[in-house]
Amino acid sequence: MLWSALIFAALADAQGFLNGLNHLRFGCSQITIERLDPLVEPGKAPTAHMHQIVGGNAFNVTMPVTDIAQLATCTTCGPADDFSNYWTANLYFQAKNGSYKRVPQIPNRFLFNDRFTTQTSGGVTVYYISPGKGKVTAFKPGFRMFVGDVARRTPLYKTQSCFRCFSGPNFGGDDAAPAPTAGATLRPCPGGIRSNVLYPTCWDGKEPGQPQPQGPRRVPHRGPSTFLSTGNCPASHPVKIPQLMLEIVWDTTGFNDKALWPATGQPFVLSTGDTTGYGQHGDYVFGWKGDALQRAMDVANGCFAADCGNQKTQSIDDAKRCKISKKVREEVDGWFDMLPGMAMK
Ligand SMILES: *[C@@H]1O[C@H](CO)[C@@H](O)[C@H](O)[C@H]1NC(C)=O
Ligand SMILES: *[C@@H]1O[C@H](CO)[C@@H](O)[C@H](O)[C@H]1NC(C)=O
Repeated sequence: MLWSALIFAALADAQGFLNGLNHLRFGCSQITIERLDPLVEPGKAPTAHMHQIVGGNAFNVTMPVTDIAQLATCTTCGPADDFSNYWTANLYFQAKNGSYKRVPQIPNRFLFNDRFTTQTSGGVTVYYISPGKGKVTAFKPGFRMFVGDVARRTPLYKTQSCFRCFSGPNFGGDDAAPAPTAGATLRPCPGGIRSNVLYPTCWDGKEPGQPQPQGPRRVPHRGPSTFLSTGNCPASHPVKIPQLMLEIVWDTTGFNDKALWPATGQPFVLSTGDTTGYGQHGDYVFGWKGDALQRAMDVANGCFAADCGNQKTQSIDDAKRCKISKKVREEVDGWFDMLPGMAMK
């Protein structure tokens, strides 16, 4: 099991649980939707499954372990100094006839007073939370990490990965670890589905980028000290790092007609072929310029959204202008007989 058996308090909604905690929060538009994964499958184009990717334009088939902020020249994220890349699996809809279609992403409409985040083009809302007491040390150039287990199909703590079935255009619904349309209450989500992916908060402090058995990914800590832990980090992983969280809103509203749903059950599947949701995972390549992220984490009193540590921000239009060229020539939208990269069953 990837995480030790600690039970955490239920994850409240994204507004409530952050009250009183310093956090930097911003939107990033899509930079590409493509079968690429420079962390887990560097050098491969196409990779095994589809990803949706946001952040800087240094994103590539392979990414050197170096200061990414020096390689990138633009970013799709709100803070102009964040050239990091963030990516996750995509969500697909499988119709009754077996065909698949990618579920579009929409900005997080429920973050009030945050024009940037609510107007991204697809993409992700990124949070860097400074959890409780003690110094939080920002990631170093070259740092990268992966969280989750693509092959997992059994329950996982919802404090690491969860979904919310939006009950309407009002942020309503409860977070749950499995795919929200699964189970006895097979039902459409009127306001779409939100995915949250949380990364670990303690790191072993070793220099990043040394090749690991499974590629150059770096999992700081697989133990109990995770989501918003206010305690100390364990001796094996003594460095408290920011709590990174990704929030993705999948616009399922075009697929909510149950007449289109397969008779066998819920119609939504991750690009990995996972219908349970337990295999949801996230990748991260750190790329903040200079000490911009550390400044945000050092703000002593409550700071919020993009204001932490006087971040240099950019306009939504400038962020959307940041583009990369496609490396994998394949159609991403339209109806498919099988998930991209998956063999016919
Ligand atoms: C991506 O990688 C290719 C091949 O290594 C290289 O030619 C290209 O310049 C890279 N693009 C970016 C934006 O770094
Ligand atoms: C399967 O169903 C969808 C939704 O009704 C439709 O758009 C698509 O063309 C169908 N695919 C095939 C291969 O018939």
